[in-house]
Amino acid sequence: MSESGIESVLTENRSFEAPAAFAKAARVKSLGEYEALYRRADEDPDGYWSEVASELHWHAPWSSLRSGVFPDCTWFDGGETNLAFNCLDAQIAKGLGDKTAILFEGEPGDQQSISFSELRAKVCQCANALLDLGVAKGDRVAIYMPMIPEAAIAMLACARIGAVHSVVFGGFSAGALADRILDAGIETVITADGGWRRGSVLELKKNVDDALVTAPVKRVLVVKRCANPVSWQEGRDHWWHDRVDAASSEHQAPALEAEHPLFILYTSGTTGKPKGIVHTTGGYMVGAYQSTKLVFDLKDDDIFWCTADVGWITGHSYVVYGALLNGTTTLVYEGAPNHPQPDRFWELIAKHKATILYTAPTAIRAFMRWGDEWPNKHDLSSLRLLGTVGEPINPSAWMWYREVIGGERCPIVDTWWQTETGSIMLSPLPGAIATKPGSCTRPLPGVSAKIVDKQGVECAANVGGFLVIDKPWPSMLRTINGDHDRFVQTYFGEIEGKYFAGDGARRDPDGYFWVMGRVDDVINVSGHRLSTMEVESALVSHPKVAEAAVVAKPDELKGQAIVAFVTPMKGEKGSSALSAELRQHVVTQIGALARPEEIHFADALPKTRSGKIMRRLLRDLASGNTTAGDVSTLEDASILTTLAAQYGDEE
Ligand code: WT7
Repeated sequence: MSESGIESVLTENRSFEAPAAFAKAARVKSLGEYEALYRRADEDPDGYWSEVASELHWHAPWSSLRSGVFPDCTWFDGGETNLAFNCLDAQIAKGLGDKTAILFEGEPGDQQSISFSELRAKVCQCANALLDLGVAKGDRVAIYMPMIPEAAIAMLACARIGAVHSVVFGGFSAGALADRILDAGIETVITADGGWRRGSVLELKKNVDDALVTAPVKRVLVVKRCANPVSWQEGRDHWWHDRVDAASSEHQAPALEAEHPLFILYTSGTTGKPKGIVHTTGGYMVGAYQSTKLVFDLKDDDIFWCTADVGWITGHSYVVYGALLNGTTTLVYEGAPNHPQPDRFWELIAKHKATILYTAPTAIRAFMRWGDEWPNKHDLSSLRLLGTVGEPINPSAWMWYREVIGGERCPIVDTWWQTETGSIMLSPLPGAIATKPGSCTRPLPGVSAKIVDKQGVECAANVGGFLVIDKPWPSMLRTINGDHDRFVQTYFGEIEGKYFAGDGARRDPDGYFWVMGRVDDVINVSGHRLSTMEVESALVSHPKVAEAAVVAKPDELKGQAIVAFVTPMKGEKGSSALSAELRQHVVTQIGALARPEEIHFADALPKTRSGKIMRRLLRDLASGNTTAGDVSTLEDASILTTLAAQYGDEE
């Protein structure tokens, strides 16, 4: 059992009720209320979701709430709406025009407070500029930006005109950006000259220029953020301040079909090729809206800080759309959590009086390591609710978060979901469901989550199985861009009639879900999802590599770390120089997030008689476990011994 597994068992019986005052003021105030709401949504999903959707603005009503069965479901057919209108115009119509929509702080300390009215004006200007440049409804636009207001403005402007955005995390390399541009059929890139990260400039425009060598586009719109020198291609490249600032701030949001594609977001699967997850307008909007409202139990005066980058689904659903759909002020911070000092987050919370903090376990573990003195220097009493997302949280990090950051008064919502689900699926409703460190507790109303065996039969309490969702939900992905067969196969091909998430989990006797992690070849490094094959493909694309196998090993800080086993080409020898070269090669191919922690060289990799690499053995080796289990299918057991002998003398 892993260390966190042992911890979970030890702390499993600890549970924490929300403080009485919190529960009293909550939307859902007790377990009984949650259960009644859950039952209601389960028995009458159409009634439940139509009520939720009716809280939003529709240009035209839907004729059919939900159509089709897994895998091909659609929602709100016949309905027309506009997500950006709901985020902006609808809030202004409710009287929130002067309320702060985006509270921004850049890494160098520059600040902006943008009201809903100002944000609408900026989004309309950007929408008009995109239309002027020739971007039309249905066109695909890549957004490769730092965490600055213009990133949210660009997303909202695309959503407003019906252009399909594909945000690419600024930490991805030019190569990864080029792959996404080609796969998504991108014609327009919105970027910045650079972004600030730990006091240096991340050269985004340069990466775009490099990507466009192999993946040309028609136009590039560039925000001036760092004033670093950039190269320029006349006719193709346009400054944001020339185009957007000069455009009209009036734009009527068109009615878009509920199933009009809203965005494509790439995420790693089990193969080397990332999947372009496609979300649509109406269903995604309803999911993002409802989950934000319920999970974060939003109040009018909340200052909501979700620390995710907009390059990930969490940034889409909670930094931008979910918050604005609820008329909530969203805090946006550009830079690193430890710049200039390890207390930047706590300083931001104290300064901006953030009431909700939503971050990743890997960040919490880093804060723990940096020491209590950093948060203790600041007044964190504005916080009333904490959240985590992205990977299982180990109970000791959970307890630290509760005590040191939350002052034992803030409930913690451990939210389980995925790029594919569009919005949170499993999470405590903080006033209603007592929390247990390490458990994401129960499904949200309208979410039918189960733990089943390979045959789809529900597992008994405490028996590990596959986490599935067995009824459609509005914000589910509709397809994988350009590969509907892969969509059907990946999510619905494993367990008959059910959406299979790729995670293993169990339910305790109280019905609480405990997510254990991926059961496929997807790994989770600092909450970032990567496929072992993706890293292997990057490694074997290097001319000195004959073969590579990549596995994860447990890592105290990152959750998992990447370990690569590499067989060099004939005539090449493993060395620390080659190791450094290969690490850099992976960074160039994918991005720094995929940089292997360890590279081990071996003359051959352990394989079965049929030629499949025995990953289980490599995993054990990488984790320092003594290899157990059946090795009789091993082609050449001596290879394993050789590998084991070499393990530890990396470089
Ligand atoms: C995978 C999805 C959607 C948020 C960011 C990640 C893991 C996510 C939890 C959690 C345990 C979690 C799962 C999932 N995961 N949240 N609360 N507890 N594991 O999105 O990149 O699509 O990754 O992240 O393994 O399958 P993503």
